[in-house]
Amino acid sequence: MKTVKKAIIPAAGLGTRFLPASKSVPKEMLPIVDRPIILHIVEEAVRAGIEDIVIVSGRGKSAIEDFFDASYELEDLLAKSGKEDLLKTIVDIKNMANIISVRQKEALGLGHAVLCAESIVGDEPFSVLLGDEVMMTPDHKPTVTGQLINLYGETGLSAVAVMEVLSEQVSKYGIIAHEPSTNSRYKVTSVVEKPSLSEAPSRLALPGRYVFTANIFNEIKSCSPGVNGEIQLTDAMTSLVKKSGMIATLFDAKRFDAGDKFGFLQANIEFALQDKNIGPQLKPYLKSLAETL
Ligand code: G1P
Repeated sequence: MKTVKKAIIPAAGLGTRFLPASKSVPKEMLPIVDRPIILHIVEEAVRAGIEDIVIVSGRGKSAIEDFFDASYELEDLLAKSGKEDLLKTIVDIKNMANIISVRQKEALGLGHAVLCAESIVGDEPFSVLLGDEVMMTPDHKPTVTGQLINLYGETGLSAVAVMEVLSEQVSKYGIIAHEPSTNSRYKVTSVVEKPSLSEAPSRLALPGRYVFTANIFNEIKSCSPGVNGEIQLTDAMTSLVKKSGMIATLFDAKRFDAGDKFGFLQANIEFALQDKNIGPQLKPYLKSLAETL
């Protein structure tokens, strides 16, 4: 069985939930404390052993490519001014993985965005990490992508993360149907994109972390436009389930919807509390603020 060394990060969305900020700055470049969202996501992949990362971006997103490129003037300036720590941070970013950028020329949906990376991924299993979902896992634990890669290694099946959501939230997510289970793993029987509450087969939602075998690409190619007229990854997942099976698992991490204003603020607060410089200032500030609310 091939090991998972490649990842796709779809990052072509327009970021309308973050307008006006996202008018000229890709939403993936908005910072959580001092690191852009996309860096948190790339780091999750790298911690899981991923070596090649395909970022599927779109028009107006070249700041993402620049971010992972060399920055000679900045590096030179930091070296000459003896700012070794900052220099190391900057150099580490350009060396952390082989970043490959492809463009999704039309906004045809998440399934289509993943398909844009097919020629780079080839016939290897790969992971997908959605560009606006941020996961927080302690350094000594496997990341969510790492947990899925382990599960794929154990079972040989495509593996996806799921989380339990409230009834009123099922219509925001892809929701799995599954066979009965007594533990935190579920044999998936189909996936429904953004169902109404009455149509939802469960309350187990996809938070945007997947490991797929390469045959998902053929399933995407066979998909007709689904919800919102888009080529949906979830529709291709249902076809894949029927042909080769899929396993879903609850995961061990704190998850933030960083593409949403509230989720973005939560992520900023929680990552800042963990930051060794900001945390000690922020904690008493939040406590005193809470007393005034
Ligand atoms: C996408 C997927 C959906 C998934 C969600 C997670 O939807 O289509 O299945 O549950 O991401 O964030 P989007 O939020 O892009 O509409």
